[in-house]
Amino acid sequence: MTDETETQKRQHESYERFMQQRKSIEANLAGIKRVIAVYSAKGGVGKTTIAVNTAVALARNGRKVGLLDADIDCPNATVLLGCNERASTDGKRILPPQAHGVKIVSMDALQGREEKARVWRGAMLTNMLTEILATTYWGELDLLVVDFPPGTSDAPLTMMQLVPLKGILIVTTPQKLACLDALRSGNMAKEMGQNIIGVVENMAGGSFGGSENARELAEKLGTKVIASIPLDSKISESGDEGVPAALREDYADAFKTIVDALEKPSKPAGLRVIT
Ligand SMILES: Nc1ncnc2c1ncn2[C@@H]1O[C@H](COP(=O)(O)OP(=O)(O)O)[C@@H](O)[C@H]1O
Ligand SMILES: [Mg+2]
Repeated sequence: MTDETETQKRQHESYERFMQQRKSIEANLAGIKRVIAVYSAKGGVGKTTIAVNTAVALARNGRKVGLLDADIDCPNATVLLGCNERASTDGKRILPPQAHGVKIVSMDALQGREEKARVWRGAMLTNMLTEILATTYWGELDLLVVDFPPGTSDAPLTMMQLVPLKGILIVTTPQKLACLDALRSGNMAKEMGQNIIGVVENMAGGSFGGSENARELAEKLGTKVIASIPLDSKISESGDEGVPAALREDYADAFKTIVDALEKPSKPAGLRVIT
């Protein structure tokens, strides 16, 4: 066999393997009406804060909600959701614990809260994410919110390819650099055939500057700024305490436009496969 046909054969096998994984994940998530992602290539912009508060706000609205923390390296969602219970198993499936009406799965929920660094190659990350997606028993859910890993390489790529997403929320802070990385994130999502639901400007109104950068970002991505969440120590303190701000009467409104945007129907996303 020539080198070229050998390469083609390997690519074909890799594609077939991927399609099988995607099918088993789709079958496992069949009881979920909508899966949406919260994403930015940049760390520290508030992806987890937005994902957790949105999930809690949806649950307060009477929706059946799950939260998948797909940030394998820094799985902080259980901290912000105040969930100290570990996931259990029935021998075959992962059974998520629940806090504030939200079912949650994360590396911390699976392995216990770790201070040790997880230093994993891309292939290990992909295997772990595939396993979680294919074996978690979520039951019937209205919405599964996925807190995406940062970057624009292997981990978010794996998630965009494997998960049947309805749409992606792009999170940024007002600074130019955060918006630049958010633009890269949005462009990756578009290249992968994903729907962008909108931009969430987080930590708005503080000394970071006005909202022009976020507006420009949304325009470049052909979407809108759907929420401006203020820079507010109550939001971080309540996260640290494990009682998300969206549970408080005076903060619930801040997350309302995100909830409204997630409840709207969207066109089906495409699927582009990079093996
Ligand atoms: N709107 C906000 N106001 C104040 N602090 C915030 C806000 N959003 C997030 N934070 C804080 O900023 C830090 C980073 O947020 P986090 O959600 O972990 O970001 P990411 O998941 O993008 O890395 C956390 O300490 C969080 O409590
Ligand atoms: Mg995070």
